[in-house]
Amino acid sequence: MNNLVIRNVQPNDLAECCAVETSGFSPEEAASRETIKLRMDMFSQGFFVAEFNGQVVGMLNSGCTNKDDISDEELKQLIGHDINGKNMVIFALAVLPEFQRRGIAKQLMLSFVEEARRNKKEKVLLMCKRNLIAYYQGLGFAHAGLSRSTHGGAEWHEMRLSISA
Ligand SMILES: CC(C)(COP(=O)(O)OP(=O)(O)OC[C@H]1O[C@@H](n2cnc3c(N)ncnc32)[C@H](O)[C@@H]1OP(=O)(O)O)[C@@H](O)C(=O)NCCC(=O)NCCS
Repeated sequence: MNNLVIRNVQPNDLAECCAVETSGFSPEEAASRETIKLRMDMFSQGFFVAEFNGQVVGMLNSGCTNKDDISDEELKQLIGHDINGKNMVIFALAVLPEFQRRGIAKQLMLSFVEEARRNKKEKVLLMCKRNLIAYYQGLGFAHAGLSRSTHGGAEWHEMRLSISA
């Protein structure tokens, strides 16, 4: 996609990021506008958007921690977020339905991992549902087992990508 730009989030992306979030997650699972704003304000370095012809069509946001257990809900509100932490934790990766299956999520992930590598992080961690385990394996992640989290009443699997120097 020629006109696709992957960049860090900017304050005026908030409304479009909220639209991407609600398109990808159920009301029980979706982060609120306040939570998305918090993630943008506190850690824009770990918040990437995919812009196509001037429209935000995808996003990836994250926090950073020294912990390996990512099942706690607090980190999603950036409580315990430590910019010097060794692990990057992805909270959300989503692409608007009409823009899916064109490699946009993959581009977001590649940019994110490249940045994590540059910042000498050890691992990228995330939680996903069973149906996306294979998807993340395709991006190089390993299945690290079932999470203790029951966020939104669902079963979550932990995925881990070790970053080598
Ligand atoms: C998961 C999601 C982010 C993927 O976005 P996308 O931009 O369509 O993904 P990509 O086009 O980069 O896919 C890359 C590869 O994965 C494959 N793929 C895409 N979606 C897949 C799925 N649901 N299951 C298995 N493989 C999938 C593609 O075929 C592609 O493979 P290829 O490069 O060999 O052709 C998107 O479906 C989405 O936003 N879903 C709703 C939100 C969500 O569940 N996010 C994950 C939270 S953990």
